[in-house]
Amino acid sequence: MRQHVNPLSSFFQLPRQLPSPEEIFEHSNLPLHLDIGSARGGFLLNLAPLQPNWNHVGVEIRHPTVLSAERDRQRLNLDNLRFLFCNANVSLEGWLAALRRDQLQKVSIQFPDPWFKRRHQKRRVLQPTLLIALAAALQPGRELFIQSDVLAVIEPMVMLIELSNCFERPKNDAQTWLKANPLPVQTERESYVLDQGRQVYRMLYRRNDHQLPDLKTLEVMLQEFDNPIKKNMPTADA
Ligand SMILES: C[S@@+](CC[C@H](N)C(=O)[O-])C[C@H]1O[C@@H](n2cnc3c(N)ncnc32)[C@H](O)[C@@H]1O
Repeated sequence: MRQHVNPLSSFFQLPRQLPSPEEIFEHSNLPLHLDIGSARGGFLLNLAPLQPNWNHVGVEIRHPTVLSAERDRQRLNLDNLRFLFCNANVSLEGWLAALRRDQLQKVSIQFPDPWFKRRHQKRRVLQPTLLIALAAALQPGRELFIQSDVLAVIEPMVMLIELSNCFERPKNDAQTWLKANPLPVQTERESYVLDQGRQVYRMLYRRNDHQLPDLKTLEVMLQEFDNPIKKNMPTADA
């Protein structure tokens, strides 16, 4: 089993200047789908040809994996797709802020690395700063899709997204988890999990028109969720 990259190590804290869509896409006016943690790229390599009227960007922290995904992309001649090497928590904020208004129309975070222990919470990819940057770039109605097979991974993501007050589930989605994937292709991890007959937890959010939350307030609310004060617990001197 592969070792997870520690996104907090000093090497991965170096910011990278990511190219703008205008620099990498011939038709940069097309709507953009950003997949965070694209790994070997199988998902976007299959999606991009099905959706020629979109541009797709996959960002990934493991450099060799990005090189291999880019080689496959070039072999398949996919001009509406690029894989970029970066730590999403370090380099995406500025890139997102520089996008044209309503250029980014879909974001997916699928099967993120399972940093579910509390002491590892800062390694989780969906941090308050990144969520606010995504919410700032997405116009009302635009989509944020998350999925995982690990409840302890997806629940803090759901909590963060809902605490931000910037996203809503579509009205017709009454049940807690989506039954089916709204995207037309599966990720590598998704196929693996489904082949084993295991459950996948999915949530589709749409940006609402609420103002962005204050970062500090959001961090404190999340902290309270992650470290609930245990009521009615016996204390050492009780
Ligand atoms: C479990 S894999 C899932 C890959 C793919 N989304 C799938 O569903 O098959 C999670 C991916 O996210 C990448 N990743 C983790 N933290 C990241 C970060 N801070 N920035 C960019 N990529 C990250 C990992 O290197 C890994 O390739």
